[in-house]
Amino acid sequence: MRRAGLKILMFLPAAAVLMLAGSILLNVSAVSKPAPRQAAPANAQSEHRLFSQGRDVFRYDTFGDQSFWGGGLQLHKAIEGSKLGGVGAGLSPKNALAAGLKVDAAALPSAVVQAIKKGKVDLDSPKTTLALIKLNAVVGVKGFFNSKGTLRSVGLTCAVCHSTVDDSFAKGIGRRLDGWANRDLNVGAVISLAPNLKPVTDLLGADEATVKKALASWGPGKFDAKLFLDGKAFMPDGKSAATLIPSAYGLNGVNLATYTGFGQMTYWNAFVANLEMHGQGNFVDARLNNPIQFPIAARAGFFDVRHTPDLVTPKLGALQYYQLGLQPPAPPKGSYDPARAQRGKAIFDGEGKCSSCHVPPTFSEPGSNLRKPAEICTDSFDADRSPTGAYRTTPLRGLWARAKGGFYHDGRYPTLGAVVDHYNSCFGLNLSTRDRGDLVQYLKNIH
Ligand code: HEC
Ligand code: HEC
Repeated sequence: MRRAGLKILMFLPAAAVLMLAGSILLNVSAVSKPAPRQAAPANAQSEHRLFSQGRDVFRYDTFGDQSFWGGGLQLHKAIEGSKLGGVGAGLSPKNALAAGLKVDAAALPSAVVQAIKKGKVDLDSPKTTLALIKLNAVVGVKGFFNSKGTLRSVGLTCAVCHSTVDDSFAKGIGRRLDGWANRDLNVGAVISLAPNLKPVTDLLGADEATVKKALASWGPGKFDAKLFLDGKAFMPDGKSAATLIPSAYGLNGVNLATYTGFGQMTYWNAFVANLEMHGQGNFVDARLNNPIQFPIAARAGFFDVRHTPDLVTPKLGALQYYQLGLQPPAPPKGSYDPARAQRGKAIFDGEGKCSSCHVPPTFSEPGSNLRKPAEICTDSFDADRSPTGAYRTTPLRGLWARAKGGFYHDGRYPTLGAVVDHYNSCFGLNLSTRDRGDLVQYLKNIH
């Protein structure tokens, strides 16, 4: 489709393309009246409904996790600050943006937009943050207000980590880019704001200072999803055990999800909603009932979580449907050299042996996409924290849009050039400097 004259779509952000696709679907369904008593009611209209339901879940659904972030950690009190009934200095929009939280410009009424433009909005006041949360404009952060307008609780959604904005209005403020990894977000710093870390210290069986040290070690763009399973915060060499937040686009057709291939996408969605976000759903995985590999999870009973009502399972279908439609973004014009990329493709498919694992069009592997750490000349630390003991061949589409923070699960290679150098020595490829450069140009264009 991309090559069939729809080139202009390539230069629109993915979200805009999706919205365009969405509005086309909407128009189609608006003009075509459903025939009564159809034998198979599944049609464009119901598909569109599923898509928009999934988008709402992805962007706005907390799965009831406000009972943890608000009810337990009291995060809303740290956002309010003591002047507004909370604790501490409160979270100003400036500090929220500095921690990598994003603002959805489309959620701002034009009066607010005008006021920001004229410098009339106080970006140093937590009051403004509360107003933005009330407008549902802080991406991935959902406020719960009482009838007097007081913030009573706060929850997180998938979008907080797996969306960013295009900065079209100002840095950190713009149109949503769903599925993009938020490599600016300092999750550890946000959690550290919480006035009450007891739910986390209890879970991990560690004191507050130890927990804060672990949280501070993550830095922007990283989160340690396995800390709540095994309590390991650092690698043997003392580096943080956190992984990069991956993108959630370009996963259509990819077998196992996560860097270590924990399970399929919908498995992982349920895992995260229940065990990481602490939503109120059902989740089962007997592999986690392993006190040696997963002491924290085994003690907390994460292998069999039940809630009534189940606020996660009924949403998994729509969520998955939406995620499968998240297209990787095309690289901006001028961000790579097309002629060199063309030559790089030949190396990727030939001498470089890359496509023996990164098989187009998913650029992961059909069938089992797991590899032993030694196959890619890497250590097994993160693989050993997973039931698979392996690394999943990373799907490479839209790599360019997650370059910040580096590559490989923990960002150990700061640039694509460093990744290529690693393979060059690992596989003894003897690629020339020019070949390696061409390969990098190709990697920048895979989408
Ligand atoms: C606090 C940040 C955070 C939140 C919130 C979050 N994720 Fe993630 N997500 C991550 C990290 C980090 C990983 C990588 C984990 C790993 O590989 O060990 C990940 C991995 C994934 C993957 C696998 C991607 C791939 O390349 O296979 C998917 C899919 C995903 N998340 C979807 C979701 C969904 C859906 C939600 C909401 C239910 C969600 N995430 C909430 C941080 C987050
Ligand atoms: C034996 C299978 C295999 C081969 C061959 C292979 N890769 Fe990989 N690739 C992997 C695995 C597994 C990972 C995940 C490593 C990790 O995250 O620690 C990966 C990760 C990557 C990443 C990082 C993606 C990200 O988002 O962090 C890039 C880039 C990459 N490979 C490019 C290449 C290139 C270029 C070649 C050829 C020179 C190549 N790969 C050959 C299996 C392979």
